[in-house]
Amino acid sequence: MIPFSKEDILVGQLAESLSLACGMPPYMAKMVGKAAAIHDAGKVKISKHIINKPGRLTPAEFETMKTHTIWGQIILSALHGKFRTIAMNVAAYHHEKWDGSGYWGYRGGEIPYYCQIVSLCDVYVALTAKRPYKEPWPPSKAIDYIRNEAGKSFCPLLVDKFMRRSEHRLLQAA
Ligand SMILES: [Fe+2]
Repeated sequence: MIPFSKEDILVGQLAESLSLACGMPPYMAKMVGKAAAIHDAGKVKISKHIINKPGRLTPAEFETMKTHTIWGQIILSALHGKFRTIAMNVAAYHHEKWDGSGYWGYRGGEIPYYCQIVSLCDVYVALTAKRPYKEPWPPSKAIDYIRNEAGKSFCPLLVDKFMRRSEHRLLQAA
């Protein structure tokens, strides 16, 4: 089974909530939330040495790390129905950025909107979490970061939706 961490569950909760704030029908928002909770399923195929490395990854390690998006698609292809498509896309696109500077260079509307939602929530949770190489950021600092990434990592309209919500202030991974 795919392990759920506390952070994965938070990404799922935030993604469902932000999906609803974006006007997504509740049944769809729920599926996006569930897919968000397993977005990193492919990491089970990546060496723990790379996943938990405290310092910066070497170029070769980074190329290996990028493949967790491909492994995620392969693993989640075992699912069925509409959820299969959503989960596979979330696994595939969650490291893409609005300006094309993400893992595989997809940009803007090439990235399914619900995958952009998961990406933003994943970044927020990662920033507020403790990592081997950093202390957790307070939510206010993470929110400022996301605001500054409008038009770079994230769609400006999506950042605007995120800023209008207040629930994220209650959620912190650390
Ligand atoms: Fe990831």
